[in-house]
Order: sequence, then C-alpha cells, then structure tokens
Amino acid sequence: DDEPSELRPPTSRAQSKSRNSSVNGRIGITADDFEFVRTLGEGSYSTVMLAKHRTTQQEYAIKIIDKNHLRRFEKLPTALAEKNTLVRLGAGHPGIVRLHWAFQDEWSLYFVLDLARNGELQSRISRMGSLSTMCARFYAAQIVDALGYMHSKGVIHRDLKPENLLLDDAYRIKITDFGTGKILDSGAERTKTFVGTAQYVSPELLEDSETSKSSDFWALGCIIYQMIAGRFAFQGLSEYLTWQKIKKLEYSFPDGFDEQAKDLIERLFVRDPLQRLGAGTPEDNNDMQALRAHPFFSSISWSTLWTDSAPPLE
Ligand code: ADE
Repeated sequence: DDEPSELRPPTSRAQSKSRNSSVNGRIGITADDFEFVRTLGEGSYSTVMLAKHRTTQQEYAIKIIDKNHLRRFEKLPTALAEKNTLVRLGAGHPGIVRLHWAFQDEWSLYFVLDLARNGELQSRISRMGSLSTMCARFYAAQIVDALGYMHSKGVIHRDLKPENLLLDDAYRIKITDFGTGKILDSGAERTKTFVGTAQYVSPELLEDSETSKSSDFWALGCIIYQMIAGRFAFQGLSEYLTWQKIKKLEYSFPDGFDEQAKDLIERLFVRDPLQRLGAGTPEDNNDMQALRAHPFFSSISWSTLWTDSAPPLE
C-alpha cells in the first residue's frame, strides 16, 4: 500500500465519514460540525470558506482541498507542507494564521484556520494605490515580528507577498498560505527547491535555487517597497525579464520615497543572503535585533505591537 495515508480511501464503515488528525488533541470533528457560510477565496487547488462552528458559534476560515486535484496534479506535498508548518508554528504568534483542526472526508482535506475578516493586504494596496509611510511602517514591523517567530521555529515561508498577508478584525497582519513553507531540519540552513512568485524571488534562488531564511527577508524588502511605491520593485514585461532585473538588482525609487524606508530596503536588497539586514547572526550584529533597530522602525513600540491599534489605512 504505497498511497500516502492522506489520500487513501476509508477502509471501514466506521471510518467512512471522516478521519481526524488531532492538531489540538480533540478528535471527532467533521465538516458537519460547521455551517459553511460563504466563499472567501479560491486558490488553484483549494477553496477557503467562512464557516461557523455550530455549537460554539465561533467563526473560522476553512481551507478545503480537493483530493482528486491533489492526486492529479501531485500537490500532496504542498498540502502536507502547509499542514506540517502550521502545526509546527502552533498558536505561538498573533501574526500567523493558526490551524485549529485538520480533518478529512472521502473527497477533501479541511484546514480550520483563524478567520482574517479584512482580506488580503494586496487588495488594500490596490484599492488605495499605495499606503502611507506610517501604515507601511506598522505592517512592516508586524511582518518582521512574525518572521522572527517563524524563523525561530525553523520555518521559512518562501512565498511571502501581499496576497499572503491577511488583515484581521483589528487590521493586524496574519501571515497565511504555508503551502510553500519549509521546515529546516536542525542543521540544514538551506534548501534547494524552486518555489515562489516572480516579483518576490531572491537572486540566490534564481541563480542556484537555494533558499534560506534570507529569502524571506528579500521578499520583505519587496513588500515594503510595494506598500509605499504602489508598484513592484522588480517588474519586467515577462517573468524572464523580471528575473533579469532581480539578478542585476535593477530597481529605483519613485520621487519622495521616505529616506529611512529607502535605506532599509537597500539593506534588504543585498545579493549576499547573509549580509541582508536581519539575516545574519548575533556575532556579526546582524540578527533580527539589528533589523528591529533600523531607524525606519524607531517610532515602533515592539512590546505593544499586537495590542496597539493599527494606523488608519490611508
Ligand atoms: N482567505 C484565505 N485564507 C483566509 C483566512 N484565513 N481568513 C480570511 N480569508 C481568507
């Protein structure tokens, strides 16, 4: 029997309704425990629905992944990566979508996630054109803080972009979509699979397809640039031409771009992954603390970052 257990049909009547993996120790939960209210988003192999837990009335976002699709497109590793990284991250950080339960039935896998009611940061940027420097600073700080936690747990995201940054009720960031996530085994600091989205891909990934924590820092630079400028830092007429620009570090800032933000981005858009701000070690004074200490963040109160109210989106 070489089919992965996730995709095997139920073997007995008792199992046929659903099988559970206990993320939080509670077993027995099934799709019947939820009222599916409406679709929140559709991905290439999954649908995310707003769902209400019938007994607690608590609302969640449930990601429903079609098993036939997983089989046909060999996407099981993606689904497993998503579940395993989310389990590893646990309930440990307010800036990361939490997995409450995972279960399955004959047709689908279900991931019960924190609901982020205010949608993708991408739609906010599109709607507003760009964000104020104050707003961009707040979101950049929340991303930095969540990245610090994620990396401390040995998880790299590998596809950070504004579509994967959701906003909750209080307009705080929740990082989602860990389908490209990677758990670094103790010792392994780098990994060699190509994943990601053209505009946010780091030069080392294009050149020798190696990713490490540093690649998430490159993407952070791309995101900060995009929030303030309202456009991609690196964009060509094709994916290939975008990659050429990334490899040549060919980008420029629009007039009036905040000077401290510019300095921060220049320190993230560095070819050597270990020289990127925050991506080094405490020994060379280039760990997360160095990134938090950058002047762009001088007005940020790191200890109240997740209880302070978000600046108005403007
Ligand atoms: N779309 C995708 N994931 C979501 C989530 N966790 N909350 C709200 N909308 C989403």
